[in-house]
Amino acid sequence: MKEININFDRSELNLKEILSYSDKVKNIHDKMEKFETEGSSFLGWKDLPNNINNKELDRMEAIAKKLHKDGVETLVVIGIGGSYLGVRAGIDFVLGELPGDEQKMEIIFVGESLSSTALVQKLRYVENKKFAINVISKSGTTLEPAIAFRLFKKMLEDKVGVNNAKDYIFATTDASKGVLLDLAMQKGYERFIIPDDVGGRFSVLTPVGLFPFACVGLNIKKMVAGAKLANDAYSSNNLGINPAYQYAVARYLLHTQRKYPVEMLVSYENAHKYFLEWWKQLFAESEGKNGKALLPHSALFTTDLHSLGQIIQEGSKVLFETVITVKKPKYDIKIMELAQDEDLDKLNYLAGKTVHEINNIAFEATLDAHSLVGRVPNIHIQIEDYSEETFGSLVMFFERAVAISGYLLEINPFNQPGVEVYKSNMFKTLKKPM
Ligand code: PA5
Repeated sequence: MKEININFDRSELNLKEILSYSDKVKNIHDKMEKFETEGSSFLGWKDLPNNINNKELDRMEAIAKKLHKDGVETLVVIGIGGSYLGVRAGIDFVLGELPGDEQKMEIIFVGESLSSTALVQKLRYVENKKFAINVISKSGTTLEPAIAFRLFKKMLEDKVGVNNAKDYIFATTDASKGVLLDLAMQKGYERFIIPDDVGGRFSVLTPVGLFPFACVGLNIKKMVAGAKLANDAYSSNNLGINPAYQYAVARYLLHTQRKYPVEMLVSYENAHKYFLEWWKQLFAESEGKNGKALLPHSALFTTDLHSLGQIIQEGSKVLFETVITVKKPKYDIKIMELAQDEDLDKLNYLAGKTVHEINNIAFEATLDAHSLVGRVPNIHIQIEDYSEETFGSLVMFFERAVAISGYLLEINPFNQPGVEVYKSNMFKTLKKPM
């Protein structure tokens, strides 16, 4: 299994304090396993890696292969929230910020906002490309993706004809209800199912993520295998040997005992930008209820050390950091030595070191600066690499953690009633028929 190592040495907590929650965590875990906790009808994510059917993975891979063979250049992925962030996170996590030939198909994301400018620009962008559409919505009624789908579907139908268009439209939605399901069935689109018991922000390891991953060329079988091993490792009720649950308790203690209102998840890899966004949604929507919870914030270092670094070091003491580093980068490069008269940038002192080594030195230096000088508690999570297996593991790690963390706060981690308020206000003004 791809290891995830967690270190609390700079967290201002000691392991004994964390482990004093062993009985409480065991109790929550055991209840969760027996489906006795609040929101237990949405615990399907726990068993996803074991339940994913190989035939379904084969079907996704076969369709992806056909799209490659047909010369489809671009997949337009339409979705928002849990039907968007995990997809974007997984692709960047494995391929990096600027992938080359390794990426089998370009992806663009739409329906993730109501920005008319963004929508029109993306419509224009695909106008002269051979594109396919994957519309993702569990409820099938979310306005942002529904509007985008109407517009992109029309463009595709106008381009290739209604009959041909249906071979290039894929709907990922609920098995038995929703406008999108009805539409897909009427039009005869190929469908993928989001299981009933898996909520949006927990759905990246369902076809929500897996189908687009297969299209860009990620190895979805390896990803599921990584998730399965991690799920086994992080489903022990023994807090002493379960790092995902230790992380949950540590953040709970830093919030409730040490009174920090903000957790900042930091990564030193550009490829993790959307993983940080996925994590923010996972924790914000799961925990932010009843006037409770840490505000999840994020930063990319060293980039943001040049913007947020000052306030983290010397500003108000509102946050603790959870920092992700990668042992083995996807690529690395050595700083070359130049002849003395060419050493005009004065960087010869770095010659022989790789950029990843320097990134690690920046991490160590920042850890000392923030935790020892700035008194900002730091939790360190080290992951192995950029692989599909590691992505699957890390998803399971944080999903396990958020469940325990939410139940420690005594809230239901699996609903999001607050999100409905803006929607009902908007629909009232728009006079949506009930
Ligand atoms: O986590 C969630 O449940 C939400 O963020 C949803 O994923 C998001 O609102 C999109 O919903 P849907 O997939 O129903 O369009």
